[in-house]
Amino acid sequence: MPKKVILDVDPGFDDAIALCIALFEPTLDVIAVTSVGGNCPPDQATRNVQAIVEQLDPPRWPRIGAASPPDCPLPADGRYQFGEDGLGGANLDVAELRARHPSEKVIADAVRAEPNSVTIIALGPLTNIARVFQRDPELTSLVGELVMMGGTIDGPGNITPAAEFNIYCDPEAARTVFLSPSTKTLIPLDVTNQVILSFDLFNRLPDASTNVGKLLHAILPPAFRAYRQRFGLEGIHVHDSVALMAAIHPELFTMREMAVDVETVGELTRGATIFDRRRVPAWRHNIAVATGMDKATVIEAMIAGLATAAKR
Ligand code: BDR
Ligand code: CA
Repeated sequence: MPKKVILDVDPGFDDAIALCIALFEPTLDVIAVTSVGGNCPPDQATRNVQAIVEQLDPPRWPRIGAASPPDCPLPADGRYQFGEDGLGGANLDVAELRARHPSEKVIADAVRAEPNSVTIIALGPLTNIARVFQRDPELTSLVGELVMMGGTIDGPGNITPAAEFNIYCDPEAARTVFLSPSTKTLIPLDVTNQVILSFDLFNRLPDASTNVGKLLHAILPPAFRAYRQRFGLEGIHVHDSVALMAAIHPELFTMREMAVDVETVGELTRGATIFDRRRVPAWRHNIAVATGMDKATVIEAMIAGLATAAKR
């Protein structure tokens, strides 16, 4: 039986790639795609989600959740790097803006309807998930599993020296979620940074005669340019697709039970993920964290996932 999942995303080109794979993955039943502000502001994230789903036209259309503004304005977004629309200026068409249900309601309703059987894959700031848990704490124990892309164990951050982007955008939300009693898995930068989608791999993606290829060829070339200009890299990170792979193929990842919290006040360290790794830790384990993966197989699984999407 396919695993029922909700994808909570802030597209963002790497969220978009993850959606391309997930919406056609036979082992997943994507019941909802919920938007959250992050790579772009909340309204744009909602628009991007709808445009991506419309363009991909998957066999089963998920419910779509609209992003609301976070409690504190986003301290950062990806527009400086990836353009006003967060997708490199692709400005994808949206045929028709449909009834807007807030993401947190879509998530809460779906989890309540099928207790203990829905996996949430959170690929953006944790604003929506924290709201769901704060408004209805019982839901923390009704979510089947929560798989998140975010944080860093040993490496530097990618938005500040200490913080990873998703956690930095809403550290209070991340803290609420990390300290909740839900079953959680974290895929941090230490692991996702290992995968670079190079030009060679890009050339293996579906061509623009398919829905998925058309989307990828619209949004990825600007991402390659931004990475070259900003980082001098001949390739792009695909953090969110790596995290998605951990939900689809957990056997390809090495996991470790750890104790994590989030710094919410530090002048230089706000949004940093802090792990208690003392010889005699005082914090209780509260999360499974990916510490390694079979990189070559993960990359091949991503390419295969996009090929499957193109067969539709
Ligand atoms: C994360 O931040 C966003 O820019 C990406 O979409 C990814 O979810 C990586 O730090
Ligand atoms: Ca993201």
